[in-house]
Amino acid sequence: MSVRRLAEDQFQPAAFAFNAENAVWAEKTINKYPEGRQQSAIIPLMMRAQEQDGWVTRAAIEKIADMLDMAYIRALEVATFYTQFQLNPVGTRAHVQVCGTTPCMLRGAEGLIKVCKSRIHDHAFERNADGTLSWEEVECQGACVNAPMVVIGKDTYEDLTPARLEEIIDAFAAGKGSEVPTGPQIDRVFSAPEGGLTSLLSDETKAKSVAAKAKAAAEQPIADTAPEKTEAAKKPSLDDKDRPAGIERPAQPDDLRLISGVGPKIESILHELGIFTFAQVASWHEAERHWVDGYLNFKGRIERDDWVRQAEALAKGGEAEYIKVFGKKPR
Ligand code: FES
Repeated sequence: MSVRRLAEDQFQPAAFAFNAENAVWAEKTINKYPEGRQQSAIIPLMMRAQEQDGWVTRAAIEKIADMLDMAYIRALEVATFYTQFQLNPVGTRAHVQVCGTTPCMLRGAEGLIKVCKSRIHDHAFERNADGTLSWEEVECQGACVNAPMVVIGKDTYEDLTPARLEEIIDAFAAGKGSEVPTGPQIDRVFSAPEGGLTSLLSDETKAKSVAAKAKAAAEQPIADTAPEKTEAAKKPSLDDKDRPAGIERPAQPDDLRLISGVGPKIESILHELGIFTFAQVASWHEAERHWVDGYLNFKGRIERDDWVRQAEALAKGGEAEYIKVFGKKPR
């Protein structure tokens, strides 16, 4: 854990005030707590001050302590304890917090730190030339299952490689950070196993999975079981008659990542195949599903995740219809 001190006096502004909108929000937030417990609002208020000014100044800490009738030292304890609070000016577009605790370190955090050093600045907390980016190493952020990861603002970016982190940093540097998908950067759903669920399957999903495996096994020619031949046989040809028909990229493609099991990488492969809409996926017949499954080397996942029913719901009524059918939000 790094030593966390307030910024030097020369950087500290003389005063702090919430802007009009945030002042109304702060009052409402304080009033959520029972009489005598208003101090519980300190973390949301400090976070809002950081979002407003980019970092937490001494003036902000003292102002918030006054608003909550707290001793300054109590508010300072909170501000200096949590690494989520920036006590010095940081990059205006992104401050990249790289987790350097053991699971992330074992899975490549050092490579991510190298990227930060080369793309942002050699030293943590120093800003890049135009002041838009900065970085630091932090302790475990609670996403170890998808290590290695970074936090930017309120979002996490997981299952990273140095190359993917470079792309993410580029996007933030260009002011397009909001376009980067958050969470796992590979085809993993939240913290589920890579390649799909392996436990807690519903009876229906289990049956489909067993049937898909049995079908795949039955269709596997015995003579083709040598490993190199098996791999080659799995990938169907692009000229195969069962390949689903593609279309030209429409002006507004559907967000295929709303289908559980489709991440950024799979979506881009689907686009290469000319698949851009939920209606296309919903129309796939069994042979076409089998072809796509084989092309993605998904081992029956399209059936297990029921892409067709998901796509039907999304094509019919978007997220609202999906929630009606599946009882939860997509993704
Ligand atoms: S060790 Fe990195 S998130 Fe837990």
